[in-house]
Amino acid sequence: MSPQKIIIDTDPGQDDAVAILLALASPEEIEVLGITCVAGNVPLDLTSKNARIVCELAGRPDIKVFAGCDRPLGRDLVTAEHVHGKSGLDGPDLPDPTMPLAEGHAVDFIIETLRAHPAGTVTLCPLGPLTNIATALQKAPDIAEKAAKIVLMGGGYFEGGNITSTAEFNIYVDPQAADIVFKSGIPIVVMPLDVTHKALVTKPRNDAFRALGTQVGTAVAQMTDFFERFDIEKYGSAGAPLHDPCVTAFLINPELFSGRHINVEIETQSELTMGMTVADWWRVTDRPANATFINDLDADGFFTLLTERLARL
Ligand code: RIB
Ligand code: CA
Repeated sequence: MSPQKIIIDTDPGQDDAVAILLALASPEEIEVLGITCVAGNVPLDLTSKNARIVCELAGRPDIKVFAGCDRPLGRDLVTAEHVHGKSGLDGPDLPDPTMPLAEGHAVDFIIETLRAHPAGTVTLCPLGPLTNIATALQKAPDIAEKAAKIVLMGGGYFEGGNITSTAEFNIYVDPQAADIVFKSGIPIVVMPLDVTHKALVTKPRNDAFRALGTQVGTAVAQMTDFFERFDIEKYGSAGAPLHDPCVTAFLINPELFSGRHINVEIETQSELTMGMTVADWWRVTDRPANATFINDLDADGFFTLLTERLARL
């Protein structure tokens, strides 16, 4: 089977970084057409810098990295330095990028790429707030028919929220954008907190990254060492949840994951529940199914795949 052509839309972020590394380490399954950056974990100037740092860490300065939207559609930007550190990539000491940003806006790259490829051949992989994707859909509604699918990290239902009691960060930052995406008609696979909170970087798993003895393995171990302190303190969990790499791993081996095809809608009115992904898990409404909502994974299989692929870089 030929590799899946994807665009990674991202707000690096340590877990975004690991997702990008996993994609770049898997050329049999994934061809990264480009990386589009969005404001999220940290402001756009840092997410677009961090994405290039990660590409160079992977030995891929050829990857086109575009800067995109620097604020949500209709709300002030909320960032997450408290989780990711001031740089957004705290933990390892990595050099500033030498590769330049690609010319042009990320939204235009998304539109032009989808229009240039046969319908159903390009998958969008958002790992941050959905501002770029929604803006592209607003600017060029025709692309909704062109995208193969969207595989995104965002939302939560039984797990509640991680930035408010009801909302997960990516959706909370730009709920209007999420509403546009979930109503676009594009097939969507959602990796919510319900599954990512089961992908925990326990000490043995982090030791396995470090034991690779490579610059990538050491950097990933240092990233998760930094990133996990928030989750351990908040949830008492056994390690950092690796949210975004669930998206990449799904593309490589979807059998690792399970969930339900259900209706998911976004709260965009109430400030109390703003950004909540209202998942009709028990199908108690007649709202049509619009997303495959993943709630479980083979965690050992996930980490074995991730570690094996990181060893290639
Ligand atoms: O809630 C987790 C998500 O928010 C992840 O994508 C993380 O990188 C942050 O963007
Ligand atoms: Ca992210």
